[in-house]
Amino acid sequence: MATVKEKDYSQYFQPPSYADAKKRGKEDIKVHYDFSIPEEMQRLGAGKKYLIRTYGCQMNEHDSETMKGMFEAMGYEPTEDKQEADVILLNTCAIRENAEDKVFGELGHLKTLKTQKPNLVLGVCGCMSQEEGVVNRIMTKHQFVDLIFGTHNIHRLPKLLQEAYFGKEMVVEVWSKEGDIVENLPKKREGMKAWVNIMYGCDKFCTYCIVPYTRGKERSRRHEDVIAEVRELARQGFKEVTLLGQNVNAYGKDFEDIRYTFADLMRDIQKIDIPRIRFTTSHPRDFDDHLIEVLANRGNMVEHIHLPVQSGNTDILKKMSRKYSREHYLELVAKIKRAIPDVVLTTDIIVGFPGETDEQFEDTMSLVREVRYDSAFTFIYSPREGTPAAAMLDDIPEQLKKERLLRLNDLLAEIGREANEKLRGQTVEVLVEGESKTNPDVLSGRTRTNKLVHFPGPKSLIGKFVQVKITEPMTWFIKGELAAESAPAAANM
Ligand code: SAH
Ligand code: SF4
Ligand code: F3S
Repeated sequence: MATVKEKDYSQYFQPPSYADAKKRGKEDIKVHYDFSIPEEMQRLGAGKKYLIRTYGCQMNEHDSETMKGMFEAMGYEPTEDKQEADVILLNTCAIRENAEDKVFGELGHLKTLKTQKPNLVLGVCGCMSQEEGVVNRIMTKHQFVDLIFGTHNIHRLPKLLQEAYFGKEMVVEVWSKEGDIVENLPKKREGMKAWVNIMYGCDKFCTYCIVPYTRGKERSRRHEDVIAEVRELARQGFKEVTLLGQNVNAYGKDFEDIRYTFADLMRDIQKIDIPRIRFTTSHPRDFDDHLIEVLANRGNMVEHIHLPVQSGNTDILKKMSRKYSREHYLELVAKIKRAIPDVVLTTDIIVGFPGETDEQFEDTMSLVREVRYDSAFTFIYSPREGTPAAAMLDDIPEQLKKERLLRLNDLLAEIGREANEKLRGQTVEVLVEGESKTNPDVLSGRTRTNKLVHFPGPKSLIGKFVQVKITEPMTWFIKGELAAESAPAAANM
């Protein structure tokens, strides 16, 4: 069996280095505006079909939209059927071990398909590709994979695909060194909601988290590029834009020539004629008063803030290197609630961080009771190779971690249900997204606060704003009926 060592991958592959990532400094960030797909590649996909399977966060979902845009600019057609795909890409997530397990499980299934269809091009991209251990494992144990590339070079997809078609060996191109921003990439967006990157990477280095290594250092897109993109989306009729970054409050901190913050960006976007603007994710540490002021002006800024807390105990927060205390977080929440009394707050919480005692976990429970989140993503801590927390003594029995997660989820469900109950009888604005998954006579949509609402109505309302009267609040969704003023004829906003 040919081993990887015998082949010369050095020209493509700079293995990711955690040590280097941590040391990274203020290298110049270059913005490239000259992306194009060479003419000879615009027919590469004629008569062929592609399938991208996406794991992980919105950042990855949006990267997949970019790759879909590139595939279609090369003449490929989309398919959801593995059997008829000529190219399959797995856009992977490395955030927790179970995310990685899913991908390796899928690779197992695809091996059979690849044996039946040797011409199938099979690629692995996304955050797992930025991990040294994963790349080595694929190169040695999953040699049927044709292509591996990372998060910093998705703009190279056309070239890499071409190499995968014409070369005999696995094409591996993973850049550990980031720094560049590539504008003008084609994007395939569907529906009425759009994602817009405002920045890439993360420099927070929370001790449990792999993202600063898989996504590289923080770099902000120029505000004029972001604003032009949002304006264009408004022109195309999109109803909602979500601004994306791992830590949007750090937006602009890397600009050397101007002072322009996330609050400035939000203030400028507030003036654009797009009905709803969301953002994710904001880090509590840098959430400043100016931003609260801009959000309190409302307009297209919705009354929902996702504000990950991770833990309610200051010592655990310190061990996580979150750089805020329980008290600081609670003060921030109080300030936000004063400025926006009907704000809906949601969060992310990790249970079972190394050394978390029962008392420390109870602090998380009491913080949840105090803040009263409408919902939350909750996770059992998962050690990630190379992160500082992975070297800490992880001495909490798995069973105890599971019990904590269950108790936390029960509490969140109770609070979420009570919060929804308050909406009974109220009329809310809903952006209709489509038919409900289980009943074609029922439509589903979202409130400004991102709550899922189901109500009976005609398909003609899809993509429109309607007023819905809440009749039956549930725990994770709400049932309602069209309010009189939203009779179909009037609902064409
Ligand atoms: N940038 C965002 C989070 C991105 S990751 C932020 O800072 O809020 C999404 C969530 O995954 C995190 O908020 C955290 O709760 C969880 N997470 C990250 N690393 C984890 C790990 N090693 N184990 C368990 N959960 C983790
Ligand atoms: Fe990870 Fe922390 Fe960065 Fe969020 S802020 S991506 S949790 S390192
Ligand atoms: Fe996962 Fe990468 Fe997002 S690790 S959560 S896909 S940034």
